[in-house]
Amino acid sequence: MSISQLGYIYIQASDLAAWETFGADVMGLQLAARDKDRLVFRMDQYAQRIVVVKGPADDVYISGWETETEQGLLDTVARLKAAGVGVEEGSKELAAERRVERLFCCNDPDGNRLEIYCGPTLTDEPFRSKVLRSSFVTGEQGLGHCFLISKKDRKTTLDFYVGVLGFKLSDYIRQEIAPGIVADAAFLHCNGRHHTLAAAVMPVPKRIHHLMIEVADLADVGRAYDRVNDAGVPLEMTLGMHPNDKMFSFYVRTPSGFAIEYGFGGLQVDDATWSVKSFDKLSEWGHRPAAPPAPAA
Ligand code: FE2
Repeated sequence: MSISQLGYIYIQASDLAAWETFGADVMGLQLAARDKDRLVFRMDQYAQRIVVVKGPADDVYISGWETETEQGLLDTVARLKAAGVGVEEGSKELAAERRVERLFCCNDPDGNRLEIYCGPTLTDEPFRSKVLRSSFVTGEQGLGHCFLISKKDRKTTLDFYVGVLGFKLSDYIRQEIAPGIVADAAFLHCNGRHHTLAAAVMPVPKRIHHLMIEVADLADVGRAYDRVNDAGVPLEMTLGMHPNDKMFSFYVRTPSGFAIEYGFGGLQVDDATWSVKSFDKLSEWGHRPAAPPAPAA
């Protein structure tokens, strides 16, 4: 396997001011740079992890996937080309903007833009959050996981991510979430994190359902839950736990309308002993829909 982690995410957002407050004051990301068109957030020693760019989409629009070596990058590109996927090398200017040494760009079967790169820039400046007391769980597990909304059948998605990019299957969850609507999700890993990518066909008008970020202390999930409520940010789902990755988490609505899952204690996969399973519930407890706002008096 050559892709080793989800290294960065670019989000296009219509309201940068809301994202600045949400990202730094509520989620506990570090605002590393800001100009009128862009916010750069850090989670660790990486110079950038989550970049929010001014634009109308209000969605994730680029995901950056790291390979440990340049050879791993070239091998991945060769596999993409052999599978007939259009892939182009990014310019030196683009690599500098992404804070990486070298990158190639392609689209997945749903038209999501992927950037596969090597050589991320690490900074000597310590990570500093205004509100997070522990740290984000990143390192070899990357920045977190993303749950994509797919328009393609499962085979097409797995042929690309497993067959070409080398992800490994973790498990499946299928649950009827509304009469006649079955969420049918596949969970994939590329490092120890139980899943770095999940995809499901769901009636959601975004490319992404949620981005998960994980903290190193359970109490930091509770503190973030308090900050969300104190700030009046809409909660999507209450505290709960998934049956597959055992993540203790809640879901909050970002200023762009998709969710962030804020979690602790996610399972790690050991490929030597892992066996693929299928679950019939998205959550083993909790993760209830948040109560609708009280009607105006
Ligand atoms: Fe998740």
